[in-house]
Amino acid sequence: MKHTKIKDLLSSSKTAQEVNAKGWVRTFRNNQFIALNDGSTINNIQCVVDFENTSEETLKRITTGAAISVTGELVESKGAGQKYEIQVTKLEILGDSDAEKFPMQPKKHSLEFLRENAHLRVRTNAFGAIMRVRSVLSFAVHNYFQQKGFVYVNTPIITGSDAEGAGEMFKVTSLPFDNPPRNEDGKIDYKKDFFGKETNLTVSGQLEGETFAMALGQIYTFGPTFRAENSNTSRHLAEFWMIEPEVAFNDLNDNMDLAEDFIQYVIKYTLDKCPDDLKFLDSRLTEEEKSKPQTERSEMSLLERLNFVLSTNFKRVSYTEAIDILRDCTPNKKKKFNYIINEWGADLQSEHERYLVEKHFKCPVILFDYPANIKAFYMRLNEDGKTVRAMDILFPGIGEIVGGSQREERYDVLVEKMKALGIAEEELWWYLDTRRFGSAVHSGFGLGFERLVLFVTGMSNIRDVIPFPRTPMNAEF
Ligand code: 4AD
Ligand code: MG
Repeated sequence: MKHTKIKDLLSSSKTAQEVNAKGWVRTFRNNQFIALNDGSTINNIQCVVDFENTSEETLKRITTGAAISVTGELVESKGAGQKYEIQVTKLEILGDSDAEKFPMQPKKHSLEFLRENAHLRVRTNAFGAIMRVRSVLSFAVHNYFQQKGFVYVNTPIITGSDAEGAGEMFKVTSLPFDNPPRNEDGKIDYKKDFFGKETNLTVSGQLEGETFAMALGQIYTFGPTFRAENSNTSRHLAEFWMIEPEVAFNDLNDNMDLAEDFIQYVIKYTLDKCPDDLKFLDSRLTEEEKSKPQTERSEMSLLERLNFVLSTNFKRVSYTEAIDILRDCTPNKKKKFNYIINEWGADLQSEHERYLVEKHFKCPVILFDYPANIKAFYMRLNEDGKTVRAMDILFPGIGEIVGGSQREERYDVLVEKMKALGIAEEELWWYLDTRRFGSAVHSGFGLGFERLVLFVTGMSNIRDVIPFPRTPMNAEF
């Protein structure tokens, strides 16, 4: 008999049928009631064991974590909390789980402990829910762009360029690092390396994505990106997934419209598809908030927050306006910020971004027209000569979730900028070709997928929304 997923059993319309379910035991009470979960839903199915006709030896092996197969009749449950249960007639232990040793006990574990057991934490309610939501969100991403006719592009993971000019890259080499070949001046000779040049793991697929947008019109990427920045924060990963749409003929306003519509769509989609998981995560967060002092608790529950973002227009504010607000705000005047904002041109830190979003505007904010010298070389210079057509989207509890811009489409201006920043033209000859042959206004952005998952699940540490996080000093699993 083929097993049926627990999700399907629980939403079944006919009872009094013989069914088979396979899964992992969550709990076993009174030698009689098994709460069985197979990952298809957050909900367990109750399996009622006829303990009088089951051997003592088998009963002992029904422990938390064990894999079992149960066959029996699907009947309406008399117990509270579930609609159906299985009256077990046949029970088979597929894989034992030593109750003394299995780390995921049916009790509250700290998130820290669960991170150390990332291979097993997915067997808990919270992580099962997070990972299902993550999966649905990524499907929503593809759905959104595919419905709009965007072409999905797989940009290279090994690159010869530093798209963000940030220099925070992981090197890719096959040279022996204890004794690499060297040229006359003693420098490592990358001509002898695998690719005949220096290569890195990509920090962004944008530059390659732009070349495709200038042929296919609307494209998006969705893939892993790598940053060797030593930011040990709850918002940074060394390996994260990024979604980067790029659209020919879009200006910065079109870009903001696209980003806002996209984010609202994927949240709506997930609210519709994951009601049980989100309800669970909503209660989890409410519970977690109770341990915080009243003043630090968020005013809205998770579900309220998600619905709020759907029904609110993101507030669009120029960098210059934001600086004025920050300069005059109480935490700045009282020197409560770690970085005091004195003048125009200052780079915003996450404390400033979060003040704007959480305290001042109390809604998602799109900041635009940043000073040119704190942003990447490829951004479109404004007529004022000192700001660029950049935009960052800031979210409550998260800070920056999106970074994007209208791109500098003018060949001469772009080359000037590269010269000023010491970016070699020979390295980006192919990128410059898009400006030499049929250049046009175009724009795009990058959304950090894990930051989106953080927002949607209400988790507070980015290590908890990716299966196996990579962070400084940690690459376990
Ligand atoms: O702002 P960033 O650096 O922009 C770019 O990479 C552009 N090339 C995007 C584009 O215009 N196509 O990164 C984009 C987003 C950030 O807003 C943030 O959400 C996320 O990527 N991000 C990270 N997420 C997790 N860990 C990190 N270390 C991240 N760095 C950036
Ligand atoms: Mg950014």
